[in-house]
Amino acid sequence: MINIKGLSFIYNDTKEPALNNINIQINEGEFVGIAGPTGAGKSTLTLCLNGVIPHFLHGDFYGEVKVDGKDTVDNGCAKIAYSVGSVFQDPEAQIVSTGVEDEIAFGLENLNIPRIEIAQRIKESLEMTGISELRHYSTSQLSGGQKQRVAIASAIALRPKILVLDEPTSELDPKGSLDIFNTLRRLNQEYNITIVVVEQKIQLLSEYCSRLVIMEKGNILLDGATRSVLADQETLQRIGVSAPPVTRLAYMLKKQGLYQGEFPINVDEAHLMVSKVLHEKCK
Ligand SMILES: Nc1ncnc2c1ncn2[C@@H]1O[C@H](COP(=O)(O)OP(=O)(O)OP(=O)(O)O)[C@@H](O)[C@H]1O
Ligand SMILES: [Mg+2]
Repeated sequence: MINIKGLSFIYNDTKEPALNNINIQINEGEFVGIAGPTGAGKSTLTLCLNGVIPHFLHGDFYGEVKVDGKDTVDNGCAKIAYSVGSVFQDPEAQIVSTGVEDEIAFGLENLNIPRIEIAQRIKESLEMTGISELRHYSTSQLSGGQKQRVAIASAIALRPKILVLDEPTSELDPKGSLDIFNTLRRLNQEYNITIVVVEQKIQLLSEYCSRLVIMEKGNILLDGATRSVLADQETLQRIGVSAPPVTRLAYMLKKQGLYQGEFPINVDEAHLMVSKVLHEKCK
């Protein structure tokens, strides 16, 4: 679904590459989380997936990016939008309409979707993001978190094959963040939408993503199944990405020789691990 070969990108008027020889393939139906320190190139990578780079943001572009079989250099953003829905890091920059309903309709109208279907999709995407009550709000009235949900609803309404989200929960409280990730899980499992999400809250990534990509200084440092990436605590600590508490606990128990099993990635698994350790200790 996504095939990136030898991708490097240097923004105009900068020296250091924001992306440095990135190679990655993402299959249909994967749920991929991207994390890494500030300036690692996470947003730049997402902008390469929806064609904003190289069509709107300019610089030196090397390599090849294909999404849903389309080369992003040969196809404009509008064509890529049939396949890739985007939620940008700054929802403010994404919202173009004065009303919520118009905002969701905007992308659909651009794709020439019939009126009656537009109404249906607006209703559906508002429900899926839990903001049906905002339908007739003005976008200037919305809080940051509400804007993020409207941006997600607008992207979902296009029923893309791939959904790329850059820190979609940055303005949301823990409950709102969980709601968004539950929505993403549903889109992934029920509609087989491929999800690529940049997220700082590593606990969310560990619970929801099947694969994690860790970036640093324009490079992909780690890429693999969530559990195996989280197991590389030394690398994560070195670049300042904190692993979820349950994984850190396992790491400490392993270091002390108290636990030899797999790294837990959620509270239920950690519970099992602690029970095992206690059981061994009390023998
Ligand atoms: N529009 C731009 N023009 C010039 N340089 C840019 C631009 N956007 C990003 N950069 C530079 O590219 C590098 C990667 O930035 P990017 O925004 O992709 O990082 P990030 O991992 O998303 O960081 P954050 O966690 O802070 O969002 C940084 O060095 C940044 O300064
Ligand atoms: Mg960013």
